[in-house]
Amino acid sequence: MAILPILTVPHPLLLQKARPVREDEFGEALAKRLSDMAETMYAAPGVGLAAPQVGDLRRMLVMDATEEKEDDGRREQAKHLQLVVNPEIVERSRDKIRWEEGCLSVPEFWEFFERPRRVRVKYRDALGAHHDEWFEGFPAVVLQHEMDHLEGVVIIDKASRLKRSRYLKKVKKGVIGAESGAEDDEHEGASL
Ligand code: NI
Repeated sequence: MAILPILTVPHPLLLQKARPVREDEFGEALAKRLSDMAETMYAAPGVGLAAPQVGDLRRMLVMDATEEKEDDGRREQAKHLQLVVNPEIVERSRDKIRWEEGCLSVPEFWEFFERPRRVRVKYRDALGAHHDEWFEGFPAVVLQHEMDHLEGVVIIDKASRLKRSRYLKKVKKGVIGAESGAEDDEHEGASL
């Protein structure tokens, strides 16, 4: 296991479209790569990580977005790691979910987005087995966010032009990441 460096904007690899994992790539080496990505995600900490975020331009991602509400309303993260290769959304609900998203590749940036509340996804696992599964609520948000990464889309690209250019200016000046964490306390969401 290894913790991999996470690329942040404006790294050019984050803007590239990832390619499908080939049949001859499924197996132990791919499983190892995905478990390194999972370790990286947990260490960050985050609830999802797509391969392009660690410079690997293949269509795969890891996520652990299961959430259970405690009796007192607190959220508890249950360990439910999913390794998702070559995902394809084949059905989406018409009703939407609105969620404030953050991203490990876009530190200190948060924005509300609306996405389909339920999506049916066909995907492979590390060894190539086929899966067909509905994701609903927060897990659906995380999955769709990570799939945007596979298209070379990060959340600043979906925000307003003003908010995007303000953020990139701050990155250029080196202001982002300077005061660690303080601002993030306002956001209860996890980075995707
Ligand atoms: Ni992200």
